[in-house]
Amino acid sequence: MATHKLLLLPGDGIGPEVMREVEKIVGWFRKRGVGFETETDLVGGSAYDAHKVSITDAAMARADAADAVLFGAVGGPKWDGVPYEVRPEAGLLRLRKELGLFANLRPAICYPALADASSLKREVVEGLDIVIVRELTGGVYFGEPKELVTLENGQQRAVDTQVYTTGEIERITRVAFDLAKKRRNKVSSSEKSNVMKTGVLWRQVVSRIHKAEFSDVALEHVLADNCAMQLVKNPKQFDVIVTDNLFGDILSDIAAMLTGSLGMLPSASLGAEDPQTGKRKALYEPVHGSAPDIAGRGLANPIAMIGSFGMALRYSFGLLDEADRLDKAIANVLAAGIRTKDIAGPGMNAVGTQDVGDAIVKELEALS
Ligand code: NAI
Ligand code: MG
Repeated sequence: MATHKLLLLPGDGIGPEVMREVEKIVGWFRKRGVGFETETDLVGGSAYDAHKVSITDAAMARADAADAVLFGAVGGPKWDGVPYEVRPEAGLLRLRKELGLFANLRPAICYPALADASSLKREVVEGLDIVIVRELTGGVYFGEPKELVTLENGQQRAVDTQVYTTGEIERITRVAFDLAKKRRNKVSSSEKSNVMKTGVLWRQVVSRIHKAEFSDVALEHVLADNCAMQLVKNPKQFDVIVTDNLFGDILSDIAAMLTGSLGMLPSASLGAEDPQTGKRKALYEPVHGSAPDIAGRGLANPIAMIGSFGMALRYSFGLLDEADRLDKAIANVLAAGIRTKDIAGPGMNAVGTQDVGDAIVKELEALS
């Protein structure tokens, strides 16, 4: 039996509460013969309290050795005063940087049972299932020069620089096409090649990789402003959207909000494929934070965290049937009206975090 090594980093606030529900799911799959091995470590404020750092070198080494990291959430008012270098978020940034997690995948899935929670019309979003692939370690957030200077005339001048190299575009492009092959075989590449040199290069590289390696996948180029418009007008036309760091930041937030609550949104961050083993570093986390306002009260929606584990099943372990079954279990639980407060409809009785985890396990059992 193949073993899959998972490192669990629950973190702070509702992180441990939603991670506990994932552990139930992991346990269920393990009982069914899937070889999961789990370890748990500290990150964020809880690591700071124990070790005065937001992640220890030992935890980093465990993350490096794992097949996938499941990350809860970090931060909260308790750590507002800690030194900047060891603030809770630094632990997550260190993981992203040292594991080389350059590809951020954010699915936007609209479960039929929640279609009315969207700000768009039911028919526009019902059944929506798209993924935004955002380049995460390059582009205008990191390019040099980056400065804010005061000129001799007293004016100030600020500069940010968008930089992309061929290699950076190639690797994110391959992630997007590989993903599309496991889905509906369509990639939409988004940039502004009409006004930006990095956009011109982006389009060239994506077209070249497509022709050479993925000609069986459909490719379209969509200018980023039009892409934003199309996401709101007719999001179901898309399958996988690949884009740079800045446009991805914006487009992924648009796509996310088509589907409702922050408590529903999973994500994956992937690194480069090891040429020897074919494996890639990966970290899976909900989009939401540590929600200090509801922490410790059993109110958190665990579906974003559970869905993040579903992405690990799909993208790190190739367990596609298991991932489909988990998605189906989540959809059925939502359809049955078992929902935490953030997504409970009017007149519906909200249940607690643990009830949702239990219901999903029960549904997994029923589906098998
Ligand atoms: P947040 O995502 O923690 O919460 C925003 C709002 O959404 C809150 O009202 C919260 O109760 C609600 N919410 C979030 N997740 C939910 C869930 N699973 N179920 C039900 N309701 C949910 O963002 P906020 O309040 O801006 O930040 C709180 C703390 O989290 C801060 O310390 C922030 O730095 C940190 N944070 C950490 C992130 C991470 O670990 N990746 C990401 C974002 C924020
Ligand atoms: Mg953002």
